[in-house]
Amino acid sequence: MNYFEYRERELFAEEVAVRDIAERFGTPVYIYSARTLRRHFRAMRDAFAGTDHLICYAMKALSNLSILHLFAAMGSGFDIVSGGELMRCLKAGADPRTIVFSGVGKTDEEIVTALRAGILMLNVESRPELRRISELATRLDLRAPVSLRVNPDLDPHTHPHISTGHRTSKFGIPLSQVFEYYAEARGLSGLELVGLSTHIGSQITETEPFTEAAGKIATIVKQLKADGIGLKYLDMGGGLGIPYQEEPPSPQQYAAALLQPIRQLGLRIIIEPGRVLVGNAGILVTRVLYSKETDVKRFTVIDGAMNDLLRPVLYEAWHSILPVDAREERPPITSDIVGPVCESGDFFAQEREMPEPRAGDLLAVMSAGAYGFAMASNYNSRPRAAELLVDGRQVHVIRSRETFEDLIRSEHIVDVSPDGNT
Ligand code: LLP
Repeated sequence: MNYFEYRERELFAEEVAVRDIAERFGTPVYIYSARTLRRHFRAMRDAFAGTDHLICYAMKALSNLSILHLFAAMGSGFDIVSGGELMRCLKAGADPRTIVFSGVGKTDEEIVTALRAGILMLNVESRPELRRISELATRLDLRAPVSLRVNPDLDPHTHPHISTGHRTSKFGIPLSQVFEYYAEARGLSGLELVGLSTHIGSQITETEPFTEAAGKIATIVKQLKADGIGLKYLDMGGGLGIPYQEEPPSPQQYAAALLQPIRQLGLRIIIEPGRVLVGNAGILVTRVLYSKETDVKRFTVIDGAMNDLLRPVLYEAWHSILPVDAREERPPITSDIVGPVCESGDFFAQEREMPEPRAGDLLAVMSAGAYGFAMASNYNSRPRAAELLVDGRQVHVIRSRETFEDLIRSEHIVDVSPDGNT
């Protein structure tokens, strides 16, 4: 459910016509709906209402300060994976005690900054990292709160690039080594062992993998308890999918499936939803530049490109693409919707049937809130798009469109001799 809807065949973002927004702010442009963000956060909170829990928004999905600020104000915690993300969420007003730090490779600097900030816990994935965190914490004269991330070895039935819970993946500690890890961690004086975490993948559209993971984790937690290792937090990661095309479970169904094996453990449950909170709360609006026909294909060339939205080529992801103004009847045509970047992988859709797009038309790429702007780049020296947050009738610029000047801000022309003689 989201608040991008047609009114008399014109697409609206809440109370504002998308066409007006595009005229005013230019294209390509990301538009987010505050109402949708609030609705999604509440839906997740309600789904876990009966359980002691903490929602840690996986901010990698969409990390604009205003979005983080909104979630922090709604009581969200944050799942971070870098020093940059820590900086962002603290700046946006996050309470450090609601921040969990995930990821396979944290640098000394990141670990120290996180410990000094007083975050809730670091999710650790390897023995050397475990030892390093203990050393660094000892030097700071404190104990680092850590959880160990377990790889439950299962198949979440999603795209291989976003599947993380199989034993061949770089993520987590293998089931066969979990108890050794906890035994070692217990002996390290710089650590406080507070939890266990897992994350099996992203865009998961069935409940079974969550139940399976939770079942395996429950067995481990019980054994740890029997061994005298009591934990406070059980972090089950994120991963719930959204309806790009498929029909994922609702937050209620997800919560029921996830909690069933772990509810009785008496631990505080942490979840790290990313996509499900922000995916359908954002669209990317682009303008059609040209139509082009070859002997075998039709192309709709737009001003948005793979540097703005990488998902279609990287994950073969399907995004619905809608005309912003559908007042005029158009015959349906089939074309590839492509951008100006010099790569054949620069497409938003292939062989897509839709009412004939013509030069000057606006197209809305739907469900672009998650991993859209967050994965944008300056490839082909294209300034990154503006980001707008619509709330009712209000349109807020939450990130200005980059300028050419922004593109070269950190660069320096050095005068090296063209012939190699200095
Ligand atoms: N927690 C951890 C440790 C993660 O690695 C991730 C996502 C999440 C939570 C949030 O997962 P979500 O609820 O959003 O599924 N760029 C890809 C998705 C990459 C996901 C990476 N990790 C895409 O566009 O599909």
